[in-house]
Amino acid sequence: RDVVRVGLMGLGTVGTGVYRVLQRNAEDIALRAGIPVRIEKIAVRDPGKERTVDVPKDLLTTDADSLVDDPDLDIIVEVMGGMDHTLELLLRALRNGKSVVTANKDLIAEHGRILLETAEAHRCDLLFEASVAGGIPIVRPLKQCLAGNRISEIMGIINGTTNYILTKMTEEGSDFATALHQAQQLGYAEADPTSDVEGYDAARKIAILASLAFNSWVVFPQVDVTGITEVTDRDIRYAGELGYIIKLLAVAKQDEAEEAIEIAVRPTLVPRDHPLAAVGGAYNAIFVRGDAIGQAMFHGLGAGELPTASAVAGDVVEAVRNLRDGVRGRMLCPCYRRKTIKPIED
Ligand code: NAP
Ligand code: HSE
Repeated sequence: RDVVRVGLMGLGTVGTGVYRVLQRNAEDIALRAGIPVRIEKIAVRDPGKERTVDVPKDLLTTDADSLVDDPDLDIIVEVMGGMDHTLELLLRALRNGKSVVTANKDLIAEHGRILLETAEAHRCDLLFEASVAGGIPIVRPLKQCLAGNRISEIMGIINGTTNYILTKMTEEGSDFATALHQAQQLGYAEADPTSDVEGYDAARKIAILASLAFNSWVVFPQVDVTGITEVTDRDIRYAGELGYIIKLLAVAKQDEAEEAIEIAVRPTLVPRDHPLAAVGGAYNAIFVRGDAIGQAMFHGLGAGELPTASAVAGDVVEAVRNLRDGVRGRMLCPCYRRKTIKPIED
């Protein structure tokens, strides 16, 4: 094999970033992956749309299905979003023997298990670093670097849009609608921003992290969620007068016996001198507590074109290496245990 062929599904905020990064860092990526990587096809909704990146028109197709069935493609990078049809496409890609890289947390948080089991059954990779916290490495650290720990807690800010809105309301007195509009313009928000502002996006991400950290399957509907739509200017002002700042926190904890997981997403009063209070704009920060490492903090941009593309590109490099070395689909589904999942008690 002298080149690895990629089918890119989606050329929106994240897809554009992935295209840019794979083009401009092609040499480094080829060196690190061991083989050059080439984008062969790109699925979009509207091929006539004006793009911010210069893409040869003959790469574009509106037929996403044709990518998963194309025998010449080795890796499918899914950054178009969507649920049922996208699930069907990714399952088909895996059954066709392709490695899959996705940023789709909606899909992983609800259907991660069937996707991982299918990937394992067909000895393919399913990689999803970009599904949580944009550019911050957190999925791979939980799967690998921290795998020797008993993890008792994960806590943090894992939605860039709501953190951007709360930061603008707190620091500049912006109103909610204006700040949300800015977050959309900057490419931080989901296609339907309801999932950001109602906390569902953070709930999906904490479900993914809890599943990885606590060796269980936690799915999105099991997370107790409150978003930020009810947070008013007055709440923010009063919190400030008392020495607090309001942040949308996602928290997952496991009991000593490792039988129950408490999990929630809620607007939370954070003391002004706490490290999370300084996490502004679209930045995310995640604390992980393990019995060996103690407490570790992961911090960086949690949304947007290039930070998210950074995570996707890293997964592409891993998928290429595994393809080259013939070691795809290694231990994707460890022995997950059924646990009691419940809201966090106040
Ligand atoms: P986006 O800007 O709305 O882009 C979606 C892209 O997919 C567009 O290029 C669109 O085509 C294409 N598309 C949608 N449906 C399609 C279909 N049925 N067939 C072919 N092409 C289709 O979305 P995004 O912000 O890049 O997000 C993409 C995914 O990454 C989502 O799962 C999101 O949750 C996830 N994600 C986003 C971020 C972020 O910061 N934005 C961060 C992490 C993860 P057109 O361009 O022609 O409309
Ligand atoms: N809409 C998401 C956010 C994108 O604002 O965090 C990154 O997953």
